[in-house]
Amino acid sequence: MFVGMRGLRMIMWTILLVLAILHRASSHGIQPLSRIAIHKATLALDNLAYVKASPTVLGLNGQNTEWITVEYSSPNPSMDDWIGVFSPANFSASTCPAENPRVYPPLLCSAPIKFQYANYTSPDYKVNGKGSLKLQLINQRSDFSFALFSNGFLNPKLVAVSNTVSFANPNVPVYPRLAQGKQWDEMAVTWTSGYGIDEAEPFVQWGPKGGHQQHSPAVTLTFERSSVCGAPARTIGWRDPGYIHTSFLKELWPNRVYSLRLLMFLKSLISDTYLDIGIEIWYTYKLGHRLFNSTYVWSQEYQFRASPFPGQNSLQRVVIFGDMGKDEADGSNEYNNFQRGSLNTTKQLIKDLKNIDIVFHIGDICYANGYISQWDQFTAQIEPIASAVPYMLARLATSMLCLSL
Ligand SMILES: [Fe+2]
Repeated sequence: MFVGMRGLRMIMWTILLVLAILHRASSHGIQPLSRIAIHKATLALDNLAYVKASPTVLGLNGQNTEWITVEYSSPNPSMDDWIGVFSPANFSASTCPAENPRVYPPLLCSAPIKFQYANYTSPDYKVNGKGSLKLQLINQRSDFSFALFSNGFLNPKLVAVSNTVSFANPNVPVYPRLAQGKQWDEMAVTWTSGYGIDEAEPFVQWGPKGGHQQHSPAVTLTFERSSVCGAPARTIGWRDPGYIHTSFLKELWPNRVYSLRLLMFLKSLISDTYLDIGIEIWYTYKLGHRLFNSTYVWSQEYQFRASPFPGQNSLQRVVIFGDMGKDEADGSNEYNNFQRGSLNTTKQLIKDLKNIDIVFHIGDICYANGYISQWDQFTAQIEPIASAVPYMLARLATSMLCLSL
């Protein structure tokens, strides 16, 4: 069959369109949290049902991640019962305004930050109505509660709510991410905290490892519900993003690691041997907030290597990837099988970290799709990498949805 140039071009465009749709479908999929119609939830509290979470205070040793145990029981267990994790804990107090006169105000207006089926690790739940889950929580500036729902995700019924669980200090500075500055000798540090500039002064304490540590001030940004473009970011996906601080560490000394070709006498007949010698310049840093009563709140200490100077003969190992996504180590939210792969990516990068100088995550970041809680979880997932080497983010055209990235 004869196909003219025009026909050929049409076929090409069709193939490209199909590929673009396939990419969208395969890489974006559905945000697992959007499967839950929390705004349709109704109250069906049952005195015989309970949810208990322990321990109740987390991060007592300064850690920002902790595993907890949730135990629950229902007199009417079913396969589609599920546990939702809510933060802030008083989730049932938040109601959304009606978006138009024909829509009734929903009962609940806060999506869970994660969820899991009640029988996930308790196969007998359906029989005896008893179950438990091990869940990982990260410090996200607020307390947590756990709720048992029946009747699946589309018309959930709230059966029982747990006690409250909280980090010892929910506002501490967390999850630093580095970025190479505009100048070669400049590093930007960005982090999240619960301290606005009317409560505390944000800064970075930093300097050469073991040497003089100086303070650099940080700028602070945030955004409000009214500044995001629509549902779900403005409705059930909204969560206070806290404060995002950035400080610029300047006039860094260049890292100098020379790769010398050393001809070793005994090995010279077999192969040449390379030996790295030189000076590795390590910097240490801590995130700080000086409260107005003159006390300080600190993060843990982190470290990074300075960049070499322009034109310096050096080996730079660069990692470039995109479309990573995020996932929960405890198996919650699991829906699209590609999400699990993001944990493999971060695990492998953490393992190879000493062989990596810079990371480019070129876009499509965590597929939050308007569920703002996911951003903290993403920054927590990449923290071991982003706090140690520059983590350069960009965004793809497919990320232009409201806070979807
Ligand atoms: Fe993508």
